[in-house]
Amino acid sequence: MCGIVAYIGQKQAYPIILKGLKRLEYRGYDSAGIALLDEGNINLYKRQGKVSNLEEFAAAQNLNGHSGIGHTRWATHGAPNDVNAHPHMSMEGDIALIHNGIIENYDSLKKELISKGYVFKSETDTEVLVHLIDHISKHENVWFGEALRIALSHVVGAYAIVALSKAYPNRLVAARKSSPLVVGVGAEGDYYLASDATPIVEYTKKVVYLDDEEIAIIDLEEGLKLFNIADQEKTPYFQQLELELEALEKGGYEHFMLKEIHEQPRSIHDCFRGRLNALEGWVSLGGIRDYEQKMIQANRLIIVACGTSWHAGLVGEYLIEDLARINVEVEYASEFRYRNPIIHENDIVIAISQSGETADTLAALELAKSKGATILGICNVVGSSISRITDAGSYTHAGPEIGVASTKAFTAQVTVLTLMALSLAHKKGTISESDFHTLLTELEAIPEKVKKVLETNDHILKIAEEYKDAKNALYLGRGSSFPVALEGALKLKEISYIHAEGYPAAEMKHGPIALIDEEMPVFVIATKGNSYEKVVSNIQEVKARKGKIIAIVTEGDVSVKEMADHVIEIPETNEFLVPLLATVPLQLLSYHIAVMRGCNVDQPRNLAKSVTVE
Ligand code: AGP
Repeated sequence: MCGIVAYIGQKQAYPIILKGLKRLEYRGYDSAGIALLDEGNINLYKRQGKVSNLEEFAAAQNLNGHSGIGHTRWATHGAPNDVNAHPHMSMEGDIALIHNGIIENYDSLKKELISKGYVFKSETDTEVLVHLIDHISKHENVWFGEALRIALSHVVGAYAIVALSKAYPNRLVAARKSSPLVVGVGAEGDYYLASDATPIVEYTKKVVYLDDEEIAIIDLEEGLKLFNIADQEKTPYFQQLELELEALEKGGYEHFMLKEIHEQPRSIHDCFRGRLNALEGWVSLGGIRDYEQKMIQANRLIIVACGTSWHAGLVGEYLIEDLARINVEVEYASEFRYRNPIIHENDIVIAISQSGETADTLAALELAKSKGATILGICNVVGSSISRITDAGSYTHAGPEIGVASTKAFTAQVTVLTLMALSLAHKKGTISESDFHTLLTELEAIPEKVKKVLETNDHILKIAEEYKDAKNALYLGRGSSFPVALEGALKLKEISYIHAEGYPAAEMKHGPIALIDEEMPVFVIATKGNSYEKVVSNIQEVKARKGKIIAIVTEGDVSVKEMADHVIEIPETNEFLVPLLATVPLQLLSYHIAVMRGCNVDQPRNLAKSVTVE
């Protein structure tokens, strides 16, 4: 996600927009830019990197103007650099525009505009929008606000847009669909727009939150008017902001981690947006499409990663081997790079990394590349080191993950791996058409099911209260829920500092069962599936030794409920997709226990968000 800010009124726009972008940097920090309308000219300043880079660059220039738009970028299309930074301008420099979101059909629109003579400077989807508005304005002889409305009827995707035009210096036009946009109404007839209220709250608490497919036309003489995409006028619903600044940056959540846990319905949806369609029966990971045949014929797929990303890789192993019948090995990057591994030219090495900067993972990839293997990446940060050295890859589109403990990045990684497994299996013919459709339909339903899991928060809070003083904890799971057990244990130990271990449930008999006593909480993923009965026996083994059982079960399961001390129900889903749901209660549980223990949840001791050292 990106951050957008705009201002129009009597004040100088630049300082307001610059400060607003700094407040929104948590939403994206790949590049930043500002366009100012001054005496009939649009002056454009944009720079790769943080807002401070832009500030330094713009310092010695003309920064006058009472109307302006600003953007801090989280790259989705096109690497982070000056050219791809927003705002984007029409070819004659008459219109400037900023955008937060993804235009799924930008490729076809771009081809059409190029055929009409438009020349593109950037690789972004956003630039398509500004040329489309320009084209419609000229072709249909309408003002840029009307052209924007018409343009949006051609666009598929998500957007929060603000645009300005030299021809209309007293106007700003904004629109939103799926990406947030707030209009602040100043006391002196001026207006503030932003992705959330943090850049606005210090100037005014009177705001209007745009709804989906709503267009705001702000005119300094006529004020604020709202229209829907069909050009019907709507009455603005003014609200009074209650939250203070600090809370607003976290979207009203106490910590970034909690916000990111709750973002998962959206981040999982954004991850598969434009990449699957159950109705039409297709899945497509564009970034690796050219390598899928090679993956199918590969000797093996070697996944290298660290920490939570390594856990996602383990889930991927279960899915790809079971569905696509391709040999997968999952390696700790730090071990792989030093153990003189055997790497063949027809091996494919896949790095999974949220940050795309983890030193061990990067080094493991470089080793694989030096041995002639094909290297692919699954990253969250566009233009990161790992995404730049790989032959191809897929971005998870989870948006910036600020909390050190990885949450939404994990479920997004698992979503990409699920899409990969489905795509490979379908190409290879190792999955029946009906199973393929069933899994696609189930995957599309996951965001809504995650929302249902999040609704069990209060119940999880009670369980956290009971076990917050535990000295140790055990997490058990079988099949693709075993990596979920590992992930749950990692979450608990890294933010609450309680020692926790994840184990394959069956392995418990080979040692860890000696640890079981009434002081030991045992978290078990016991959802319906192939190994359900076996997991139930493991639960009974724990109960026989007075261990405490907290079981994650399929909604409506009554038998485990009778034997466990607590159950957390998650909606029924296909066994392959359980990791996407079962992980969420474990994230919430760790979060609440850490908060109760007074730990620094977003920046746990000794940890860094990205381990760029060995
Ligand atoms: C997980 O909560 C930790 N933040 C850590 O294990 C992390 O997953 C690991 O350092 C890998 O980071 P990456 O995904 O950015 O490569």
